[in-house]
Amino acid sequence: MRILVIHGPNLNKLGERDPEHYGRLSLADVNAGIQAHARTMGVTCNIIQSNTEGGIIEAIHGANGYQGIIINPAGFTHTSIAIRDAIECAPVPVIEVHLSNVYKREAFRHHSVTAPVCVGQIAGLGQWGYVLAMTYFVNQS
Ligand code: DQA
Repeated sequence: MRILVIHGPNLNKLGERDPEHYGRLSLADVNAGIQAHARTMGVTCNIIQSNTEGGIIEAIHGANGYQGIIINPAGFTHTSIAIRDAIECAPVPVIEVHLSNVYKREAFRHHSVTAPVCVGQIAGLGQWGYVLAMTYFVNQS
């Protein structure tokens, strides 16, 4: 099984950015944890990070050959109709993950334009959200 993980804007700043909400792990630490669990599940996992809408959209369009996408669209979650449309026509199912519990935060984070076109959403479980999403794809296949 092949899974694509897409991290959206500013997630390259994990570890230094707002640790109260995102913890102290760097993106490299989070990715190492994802890869360690992928190996135990027999999953080949490719991970990308993009700070641009276009980069994320092209990654989604290019996901042929994967069985699922796990995406944290970060700030674009709340604004990007273009990423929402890309997910809607994605070649494979998509799960949305947020490190923080967006529903405990500012009101503008309570609405996701992308979640309605995803299989589901996991929020507030930190790096474990990615592992749980991967577990779902493995067990659904
Ligand atoms: C986030 C939540 C978003 O509201 C925020 O803009 C992010 C990160 C999360 O993982 O909790 O950049 O997606």
